[in-house]
Amino acid sequence: MEERKWWHTATVYQVYPKSFKDSNGDGIGDLAGITEKLDYLQDLGITILWICPFFRSPEVDNGYDISDYMDINPKFGTMADMEKLIEEADRRGISIIMDLVANHCSDQHRWFQEALKGKDNPYRNYFIWRDGKDGKAPNDLKAAFSLDAWQKDEKSGQYYFHQFAVEQPDLNWANPAMRHELYDMMNFWIGKGIKGFRMDVIELIGKDPDRKITANGPMLHPYIEEMARETFLGKNLFTVGECWNANPDETLRYTNGKELDMVFQFDHLVIDEGKNKFDILPFDFLKLKKTFRKWQEIFADRGWYALVWDNHDLARIVSRYGNTDRYWKESAKMLALTLHGMKGTPYVYEGEEIGMTNMDFVSKSQLDDIESINFLEAEKEKGRDEKELLRLISLRGRDNARTPMQWDATRNAGFTSGETTWLCVNPNYRSINVAAEESDPDSILCFYKTLIHMRKEGKYSELLVYGRFDMLMEDDEHIFMYTRTLDGRRLTVVSNWGDSEVEAPAVGNDDRIILSNYRENGSVLKPYETRLYANC
Ligand code: GLC
Ligand code: CA
Repeated sequence: MEERKWWHTATVYQVYPKSFKDSNGDGIGDLAGITEKLDYLQDLGITILWICPFFRSPEVDNGYDISDYMDINPKFGTMADMEKLIEEADRRGISIIMDLVANHCSDQHRWFQEALKGKDNPYRNYFIWRDGKDGKAPNDLKAAFSLDAWQKDEKSGQYYFHQFAVEQPDLNWANPAMRHELYDMMNFWIGKGIKGFRMDVIELIGKDPDRKITANGPMLHPYIEEMARETFLGKNLFTVGECWNANPDETLRYTNGKELDMVFQFDHLVIDEGKNKFDILPFDFLKLKKTFRKWQEIFADRGWYALVWDNHDLARIVSRYGNTDRYWKESAKMLALTLHGMKGTPYVYEGEEIGMTNMDFVSKSQLDDIESINFLEAEKEKGRDEKELLRLISLRGRDNARTPMQWDATRNAGFTSGETTWLCVNPNYRSINVAAEESDPDSILCFYKTLIHMRKEGKYSELLVYGRFDMLMEDDEHIFMYTRTLDGRRLTVVSNWGDSEVEAPAVGNDDRIILSNYRENGSVLKPYETRLYANC
């Protein structure tokens, strides 16, 4: 039996502060808005709240470009608002974890402004500088957001390295002075009552750009071990790293007890991606199942898995793997049970619990995200049609996840009392919103609540948290089926992933249905029907 941790029974809720709730009518979500909604989150049953960056930032990448790690973005409020949020959350049994953006900062950060002053400035070495070659960049490494990874500084003639926007220079982890400033900053936040960290693109910090190594560099694990020792280790905090490139060995190394509690692993969310996220391939259900089975087995009795469908970088899951035309509600619940029944820690991204969908972006002016805008511009330049590009962005762009949270059917979805919002509200808010679902016992929201509470406490909690996972019917083209077992007790999840009826598979004799998205369950599985059986 695994060593038990306080967060094992938790479901994590992720808030994108700009889009969650606006408290002062300026159309931008803020910290006081999150505090206002803590009762809602408590009722939902979540016990860990991850808040995306709320620090001072010019917002080139919506806060993932930090200009002061120890100060609050004034648009979101003040340090006093943050302290109040931490305290009020704590009173409701909710632990706040913050986003640690340690691979890069903003070019407006004091460190970078100092570094720009010249080669002998003490902060120069907080960043990665190289001379060019034959008047060109040191090498051809690419950054995210359709960019090159080296940017020339005209004043010194040198290039600095950045893996994201030009305005997000990479921090130089080879410099111990820089590392220790980050650790001090982390300890400052731990002192404020933060209960852990979600670590942004942590796999990139061990980079070696001269050898063109970015993810999983040679120094990655030594750095994380040092950071853990200097900051959170032994303090009973919660940590999760964001890793797009982790293979099984790498992942187990992160979770060997000296580093992180778990890492996000996204294989199941890129199975339909070609060269890049906007190059969309047909959905491969068998591959999806295989991927889940593989990772569930890897974490069977070592490490820990993060169960995730949605976050602020991903298009809405019900629009991707569900069916928003005819079976919106059924498919959203089916996706929820399929994921939450597995072994690991479930994450719920704001709006996922009410089945929020993608947005139909029809003009460039509706977009905010640097990734989508740069992609649109770069591809247009190659001669591609703008309409088609907007269609792809509506399917995969990050702004889909960032439209304001839909609280009720009043103007602007009850997100703000103001006239305008920083990003458009999805027009379907009149039917998809919290108020409507709170008063409907058959809603997606109530279904999520049931799943979250079931894991947290009560008869099935231990089984859901620690039960052994076994995939069944792995080659079936329609059905996703698995069991969770512990000491003779068993849960079985059966989901129909399609819009046609299929024969319901046989289950154990003493199994009975304890949760489903249809009121009546017969010998066939209806479209997107999902069932949770228990023998106990
Ligand atoms: C992570 C964040 C994403 C951000 C990027 C650069 O992937 O989740 O939103 O753009 O890192 O910080
Ligand atoms: Ca506001």
